[in-house]
Amino acid sequence: MVASIALPRLMRIGAGASRLLPEILGQLGLSRPFVVTDPYLVSSGRTDTLLERLASAGARGTIFSETVPDPTVASVEAALAALKAGDFDCVVGFGGGSPMDTAKAVAVLARHGGHMRDYKAPRLQDEPGLPIVAIPTTAGTGSEATRFTIVTDETSDEKMLCIGLAYLPVAALVDYELTLTKPKRLSADTGIDALTHAIEAYVSRKSNLFSDGLALQAMRLIAPNLRRVWTDPSDRAAREAMMLGATQAGIAFSNASVALVHGMSRPIGAHFHVAHGLSNAMLLPVVTAFSAPAAVARYAACARAM
Ligand SMILES: [Fe+2]
Repeated sequence: MVASIALPRLMRIGAGASRLLPEILGQLGLSRPFVVTDPYLVSSGRTDTLLERLASAGARGTIFSETVPDPTVASVEAALAALKAGDFDCVVGFGGGSPMDTAKAVAVLARHGGHMRDYKAPRLQDEPGLPIVAIPTTAGTGSEATRFTIVTDETSDEKMLCIGLAYLPVAALVDYELTLTKPKRLSADTGIDALTHAIEAYVSRKSNLFSDGLALQAMRLIAPNLRRVWTDPSDRAAREAMMLGATQAGIAFSNASVALVHGMSRPIGAHFHVAHGLSNAMLLPVVTAFSAPAAVARYAACARAM
């Protein structure tokens, strides 16, 4: 079997990695970023800091912060209108899964046109859109390293999965210091999401030796540190482990697959508006009980890793 692997071209991982955005944009020959973020990151002053850093490096950034949790077609169209009103050469997704997924969607729509529904799987969108740089502020989605985005069609309550290399960020800045202020509830939900990515990538029929190594390492990092970040949000070592684990789990499932938990989690989230990690948490025990007999050795390896 030949494994097909796709990764961000540049990654910076560790404390302060997000401060390297101007340098990374320079390496990529980019200077006019459209920064997609959320209202919390604006109110916390983090976006001002980011813009100041860009300006001091001669880059001109513009902030779009009207993203919503679980991005909708309407919220993506609002972002697209703002992008089209300016002159940008790349999109930066700065935030949790929702800003990053919105950034991915507008990067493709801006270059290829059409409507979000046109891009729904099984369509494969490999032809690149605008370059995407991802800066996650949660340890969960792994979206900074995946070739997926998910947008909800609010008219039908459908979470549309969109797949292709066009959604894979060209660069990812993985800075655990951005997660130190994450509320407990968000730490729990996003952490379970990351753990589920790792387990599902490992038990997937599409797993391969490359994804296996990252999935197991992600489980080793996430399992002992999830409760630690919930108990003490300022535990830097645990935050660092969670962030690295979430990114590794993202790479693992982007190059293998997720499985039944995510397949069922999407419709539950769309219909009942349950946080993605929480619906994963509800499903993981029952899906594991259902699936384990068909892949005993694989689930046993997960248990040993955790
Ligand atoms: Fe997920």
